[in-house]
Amino acid sequence: MRRLTFFPTEKNSLHYWTHFKNPLVVTRNFIVIEFCKYVPSMAVRRAFLRLIGIKIGRDTSGALGVQLDIFFPEKIEIGDNTIIGYHSTILCHEFLVPGLRTGHVKIGNNVLVGANSTILAGVAVGDSATISAMSLVNKDVKAGDFVGGVPARRLRDKKLQSAKPSEEKKLKRNSK
Ligand SMILES: CC(C)(COP(=O)(O)OP(=O)(O)OC[C@H]1O[C@@H](n2cnc3c(N)ncnc32)[C@H](O)[C@@H]1OP(=O)(O)O)[C@@H](O)C(=O)NCCC(=O)NCCS
Repeated sequence: MRRLTFFPTEKNSLHYWTHFKNPLVVTRNFIVIEFCKYVPSMAVRRAFLRLIGIKIGRDTSGALGVQLDIFFPEKIEIGDNTIIGYHSTILCHEFLVPGLRTGHVKIGNNVLVGANSTILAGVAVGDSATISAMSLVNKDVKAGDFVGGVPARRLRDKKLQSAKPSEEKKLKRNSK
């Protein structure tokens, strides 16, 4: 069950977006988030994202093209040492025809959000969870779970295995 707040509107809710958020603030958020999609330094990304209210922990890294919520970035909280994969999307709002729904997104420590995944508003992802690439996360993910698909389902009980020993050696050699 997602944790959402509903704001009813007379016409479709996107029609009223300027009533929900100051357009200048949204423009600022948009510029910062677009900059952070491409700036190579993770430290610079984190610093700018914190400026627009995102709570983001130590060593957390967002890959190229990550789309964070431009309307309510202050509702995003990400822990330490987490990866948000290439072209993933984190939403804290959803404009619907009868009204707007908003909700906090909380992502824990040591989480992998696979490339091209979408996390919907009002969802919490526990520490050390793994979300496979191209997943739609529309409900909470428990700590340590491995989930994937559209919508995301629990894929297996055991924790994600690290690279095989032969692959580890190759990685070490390549990094010299
Ligand atoms: C999470 C991930 C690393 C798992 O890799 P892995 O440990 O090699 O696991 P596998 O690919 O073998 O998947 C394990 C099982 O889950 C299944 N599975 C994985 N993703 C799935 C999905 N989205 N939907 C359904 N099943 C899925 C696999 O088919 C496999 O099933 P099987 O054991 O019956 O063959 C990989 O799925 C992934 O998402 N990689 C991308 C990582 C990424 O995006 N990083 C950030 C980049 S910027």
